[in-house]
Parts: sequence; C-alpha cells; structure tokens
Amino acid sequence: MSLSIKANNLLVFTITLLLISSSLIYGQIPDESCPSSSVSRANSNSGNCNPKVYGDDPRRIVCVCNVQSCPPIGDVIEVKNGQVTVYESNQDGLRFLTTTLNQSVSSNEVDPVHGESCGEITVHSSEIVIDTRKTYQKIIGFGGAFTDSTGINVLSLKREVGKNIIRDYFDKSGLNYTIGRVPIGGSDFSTRPYSYDDDHPGDLNLTHFALAEEDQKYKIPFLKEALELKPNLKLFGSAWAPPAWMKTSDDIAIKGGLKGHVGGEYYQAWADYHVKFLDAYRKQGIEFWGLTTGNEPIHGLLFSLFNNLAFSPEQSKDFVKENLGPTLERTGYWPKLKIIMLDDQLLLAPIWVPKLLDDSDTAKYISGIGFHWYANNFLARFGQDWLRKSYPDYFWMSTEACEGYRLGLDPEKVILGSWKRAENYASDIIEDLNHQTSGWVDWNMALDTTGGPNWAGNKVDSPIIVNSTANEYYRQPMYYALAHFTKFLPPDSIRVDASGSYNGIEHTAFLTPDENIVLIVMNSNEFPVELNILGDLEFGVKLIVSPRSIQTIVTKRVLR
Ligand SMILES: *[C@@H]1O[C@H](CO)[C@@H](O)[C@H](O)[C@H]1NC(C)=O
Ligand SMILES: *[C@@H]1O[C@H](CO)[C@@H](O)[C@H](O)[C@H]1NC(C)=O
Ligand SMILES: *[C@@H]1O[C@H](CO)[C@@H](O)[C@H](O)[C@H]1NC(C)=O
Ligand SMILES: *[C@@H]1O[C@H](CO)[C@@H](O)[C@H](O)[C@H]1NC(C)=O
Repeated sequence: MSLSIKANNLLVFTITLLLISSSLIYGQIPDESCPSSSVSRANSNSGNCNPKVYGDDPRRIVCVCNVQSCPPIGDVIEVKNGQVTVYESNQDGLRFLTTTLNQSVSSNEVDPVHGESCGEITVHSSEIVIDTRKTYQKIIGFGGAFTDSTGINVLSLKREVGKNIIRDYFDKSGLNYTIGRVPIGGSDFSTRPYSYDDDHPGDLNLTHFALAEEDQKYKIPFLKEALELKPNLKLFGSAWAPPAWMKTSDDIAIKGGLKGHVGGEYYQAWADYHVKFLDAYRKQGIEFWGLTTGNEPIHGLLFSLFNNLAFSPEQSKDFVKENLGPTLERTGYWPKLKIIMLDDQLLLAPIWVPKLLDDSDTAKYISGIGFHWYANNFLARFGQDWLRKSYPDYFWMSTEACEGYRLGLDPEKVILGSWKRAENYASDIIEDLNHQTSGWVDWNMALDTTGGPNWAGNKVDSPIIVNSTANEYYRQPMYYALAHFTKFLPPDSIRVDASGSYNGIEHTAFLTPDENIVLIVMNSNEFPVELNILGDLEFGVKLIVSPRSIQTIVTKRVLR
C-alpha cells in the first residue's frame, strides 16, 4: 500500500512520505495509485533490524541480536539548514526508517488539505503549530533500572552478545540513556529477598552492613560499563525494604513500617543505611546523583506482595526532616545529591506533595517528585497539573514503568513483538512530557522470555528480552518507541508549545540545545493522517503519518 498527496507547489514546501511499509520490508516497488508530487528524499534505511516474527501475525516483529549480527540502531543524522529528517517506526514493521528531505519550494504557509481522497483511502488531516517562544520544562534525561534480574539476564548470554545490551541502552548508537535507577539492596526482581544487614537483628549501628553478592555480580560491573560510555550518567538509588528486624512486621515482604517513632533509633538507622550504601558504592568509584525516599511507600501500608516499607505522608515528611536530610547533610552528600520524594503512583501525588512541600524544613531537602505509571489516568494528570502550578520549583520524573504488570489482565507477561505495548510507552511518555515531566525511567532493562526472574512471581515485560538458550536477545517494539524520544532529547532540551488540531495524533515538541526542533508524533489510528507542521520552522512541512506509527521529525529552528 502506498500513498502520496498532491502538493500545492507554489505555496508550500510539501513533503510526502510514502506509505512504504510493506513495499520496503518486502522489497516491492511502491504502487503509486495517487498523483505524486516532486519530492526529494534520500538516506532511506531501515534501522538495522534483523527481524523475527512471532505467532501468526506477521506484524509481531522483534529485532534479533546474536553472535552473528547485532548492529545498533545507529547515530542520529545531524540535520542541516533546509532539511528535515524523519524517523519512523510502525506496526507494519518499520523500525527507525530514516528519511532526509530537502527543501525544494519554500514558504511560511501550508495550505492544509482536509479529508482529501486518494484512491480508496481518505486522508485525515491534522495541523501542528510550533511556537518556540512559549517554553515549558527542561529535560533531565531518560533511563532504565539496574535490577539484579537485568544483570542476571545479561550474564546468561555469551559475553560478546551480552555486552551489546549495555551499548544498546547507554551508547549514542543505542538509546543514549543518561539516567540509571539502582535498587538499594534487593527488589522483587532479584532471586531472593535480601538487605545489606539481614543476619544481625538489633545492629542499629550497622556494624555488619555489607553489600551483597548481587551488587558485585549483577549491578556494579554493568554500572561500570555504562559509566564508561556515559561518564555523566545520573544514577539514583531507591530502597525497597530495610532488614526485616527494622520493620514492625519483622519480615522484608510483609507489610509494615519502621519500628519505633520518627526521629527514633530505627529511623536514624534507616537513614544511616542509605549513607552506608552511598559510601560503599563510592568505594567502587560509583557516585550517585540522586536518591528517592523509598520505593512505593503505599505498598507497605496496604499489601504484602514483595519487599516493602510503609511510610505515611506524615512519616515521610518527618523522616526527611529529622533523619534522612540532616544525615545526608552531615555526611556531605546533600545538597549535591538530589532527594526525590514519592517514588510511587502519580495518583497519590496530591496527598503526598503538599504534606512534604508545605513544610519548609522538609521541602528544603527535596529536589523533585518521582512517580510510577501504574495508575496514570486523567485524575492523576489533573493532580499533577495542579501541583505543578502550586509547587513550580520541583522537577517531576517518571521513575518506573513497565508493561505486562496488570494482575489478571495480563496473563501473558512477555508479548514478543507487541506494537500495542510500544504505543503504550510512547503515549505515556508524550503525556508525561506534556504535563511538565523532565525525565522518564523504565523498569528492568532486560528480562528473560518469561519476564523474570522475580522471586515473588511478579513477572513483567521489558524492551529487551533475553533468550539464553539461543544465546540471543530481542529488541522489542517498546525499545524502538523509547528510541524515538531518548535519542533526540538530550539533557536541557526544552519543551515548546505545539498546538493544533489532531485527529487522534498525540504529539510533543522540543527545542534542543543545538537549536533543533524535535517533534514526536504518534498515530494510533488505523488510517494515515496528513500532518501539516507550521510555526518556527524554516518552512512549512507536510507529511503523512502512517497508521499505527511513531515518528520523530527533526529540523532547524527559525524564529519568525
Ligand atoms: C539533499 O541535500 C544534500 C545536501 O545539500 C545533498 O547531498 C543531497 O543529495 C540532497 N538530497 C536530495 C534527495 O536531493
Ligand atoms: C552503637 O555505637 C555507640 C557509640 O559508639 C555505642 O555507645 C552503642 O553501644 C552502640 N550500639 C550498639 C547496639 O552496638
Ligand atoms: C529461544 O531459543 C530456543 C532455541 O533456539 C527456541 O527454541 C525458542 O523458541 C526461543 N524462544 C523464543 C521465545 O523465541
Ligand atoms: C547523547 O547524550 C549526550 C548526553 O550524555 C548528549 O550530549 C548527546 O548530544 C547525545 N547524543 C545524541 C546523538 O543525541
């Protein structure tokens, strides 16, 4: 299937992207049933994907990496004046198809075509106007988590294959990640529940504190590899649970809080525990940029699914004020180290944020608000917008997300080749960014074909799935969805206004430090949408966004 749109050559610079999916993949000549305009396109290539199809649906495609072959996506092309570069991935199997288009006819204006009929397909039209003078938040970065399971899966491959996973995430030829989340001790994505001081109940001075075998085998080596590729990597730690003896439940996984009262010896020991962790990693040459106040405090209040520690908003406020903050200050970590509050569902933010930030003695220690995506909905966004206005000085960061997590609703934890899951990632990132979020951090970077290991049976999906039997790994559609953002939005990119009419097109726009305009759009319709892009560009751009696709469009900014 292919399609092109007739351009209004005198008034506009028109870019027609052919719907080439099937023709490119299967090497057929495009069937141009519509009148074609003179378009200059070059540099088409298809994203270094070595495809493998799962099941009966030919669109369930992953990209295979093995001993024979594992090319990375590749570096992004530097865009020049008079050019637009378009990167496209879609359900039909395009993976980062890169097209550079030259300006042939220039104009400030585009004559939008509404519902133009081309053969049997009605083209729906949409318009986006970019205003770079209206700016919002800056990007801090994108990343993933160094879970024990990630390390275990990387190590289950031959070294020559496994080492490419770290490259695929942190090298600029891959996702060019700039953030890493590090569980402090074990999480459910470990093969056992553990802390750094399990066997000495009452060791409030933490004399027996010691990193675990898991740190030495599954975390530190890969953190070092990532740091070699990205010396400025921003790492932040999150603790799931303290030693069982510090908890009211005397069990790592049974719900409960710290013993005693806030400000008391257990709370102080828990603050000291964080410092011991930072010290131990510093000894390994690994410095942290941030620390959350603990993974999902609500889990420990309500459930007993895996490693947890309960904090009410009130306790959290007092813990930061009386123990964590002063302890990090006394040991010289704070204020350089960013303290990130919440690290739990976005929906909870309206309860937690005012509690901590209205108390100036607590608020002074806090830099940002971390949230998880599992309960994101319009109410959560409503709360985020309101809080953002009331507390404008704190950054927002999505600190955990994954697919296949819904109990009961996701019987298949790993779905290889699922485009729907790629769309869910892209849609959430777009929403987050459009609600002033500065970073997005994925959960496990690599899981096995069942979505584990996970000692508590809480398996999920991941953008990279490892098949150790075949000594290969698969880059899922989710991996490519991430690439459409992470490779184009370096730290300090600033979100700019992009408004218009949509037809089911989700989008977000940024200005990078290099003065590039980056527009990311997703079409989750089953039909193509013609997109007119106007505003602070050298020229109006008109292109076709194929059905079920994600596109990143890069061009130079010109202020008008
Ligand atoms: C686009 O412009 C570049 C640089 O001027 C040139 O090298 C390239 O051949 C042009 N491509 C097309 C398709 O016109
Ligand atoms: C902890 O250290 C302090 C000061 O060194 C000491 O007085 C105290 O007895 C120690 N507590 C325990 C439980 O070892
Ligand atoms: C993993 O590799 C084995 C051996 O080649 C193969 O039989 C199996 O189907 C693969 N699993 C998946 C999920 O691709
Ligand atoms: C990769 O990330 C670094 C920040 O670590 C950034 O400076 C650089 O511009 C990025 N490279 C590309 C090609 O986006």
